[in-house]
Amino acid sequence: FQTIDDLQLSGRRALVRVDFNVPIRDGKITDNSRIVRVLPTIRDLKAQGAKIILMAHFGRPKGNVVPEMSLGPVVEGLSDALGGEKVAFAGDCIGTEVSTQIDALSNGEILLLENLRFHAGEEANDSSFAQELAKLGDVYINDAFSAAHRAHASTDGLARLLPAAAGRLMQTELEHLSQALGQPKRPVAALVGGAKVSTKLELLSNLVGKVDVLVIGGGMANTFLNAQGIEVGRSLCEHEMADTARAILKEAEAQNSKVMLPSDVVVAETLAENVPTSTVKTSSVPANQMILDAGSQTALEIVAELKGCKTLVWNGPLGCFETEPFDAATNSVAQAAAGLTVSGDLLTVAGGGDTVAALVHAGVDEDFSYISTAGGAFLEWLEGKTLPGVKALEDAA
Ligand code: 3PG
Repeated sequence: FQTIDDLQLSGRRALVRVDFNVPIRDGKITDNSRIVRVLPTIRDLKAQGAKIILMAHFGRPKGNVVPEMSLGPVVEGLSDALGGEKVAFAGDCIGTEVSTQIDALSNGEILLLENLRFHAGEEANDSSFAQELAKLGDVYINDAFSAAHRAHASTDGLARLLPAAAGRLMQTELEHLSQALGQPKRPVAALVGGAKVSTKLELLSNLVGKVDVLVIGGGMANTFLNAQGIEVGRSLCEHEMADTARAILKEAEAQNSKVMLPSDVVVAETLAENVPTSTVKTSSVPANQMILDAGSQTALEIVAELKGCKTLVWNGPLGCFETEPFDAATNSVAQAAAGLTVSGDLLTVAGGGDTVAALVHAGVDEDFSYISTAGGAFLEWLEGKTLPGVKALEDAA
């Protein structure tokens, strides 16, 4: 696909799809990383004298105008991130008033449009809505990798109506993800945690065969253990997924992927801060207790395995890291992986909702080689799916 370098930008209206779906509490942004990560694109467009029109969604208003889902609060956050630069805001994302505001922009100025999802045409990928958007720009740039798993008007339809290119963040995300799974340095390990096998089934099936080592942690490890006849007491366990879990293990064996499951676990009667816990062998989980973290022996085994690897893809925590002390295994493996990254021995790529929070909690987010801004899109990419937003850019080229 094309990049910003392939477009004529001076004096032209650049319609840029970004992902400003950021966490907001009491009108304040609590994590501005998605804003900060599109700054390279905005700066490049400014430098080339484009009129910068930013399009984004916020929340899931389902085609209705929901004032609490306005992108208004993002204006200040973006302006701050740009060192106090002026950012104008449009009360809608299509229509004559928006056009008038765009006409008034000087080269290098920025206008943020209101939530695209206030119009049902966005999510429906409606062609007349895409045409309304296309009227506002001369070129289209997609810098929203984290929304690329959606085939919406602003991620798909528009790319087919205007000269289209990937923004800098889109380029960076795709480069790093391809380093991790496309042509990775081997051996490559994937650490997949999280609560449920059912939500990560396609992901596990895709990774088996692509990676040399598959570390399974979190609640979903219980389902795998139980499928092998191990009693897991009152632990979270999807009994109905037992056949599927066994099939994945069998496929891993056939493909020569080594699967690591916990050999010891931290158990307690309830999930709460600082309850009495014990660490037991996986084969002896008491019937009245539940598994809430991987044990320290397991953490050591994972780290020993990582020392022999060149690439690690991480998605999902190893335990209930939000509740201490069940963050211990996630913290110690994350810290060891960060250490191996800093010493140049391991390329570490992480992404997906909870994962970033877990790495921030472990204090290692700065030390990983790459952390994706994507949640759902990262998962779909791990599942081996074609992302519609990326495909639209490829088709346009
Ligand atoms: C995200 O936050 O992962 C993206 O912005 C996509 O949001 P969505 O799941 O509402 O499409």
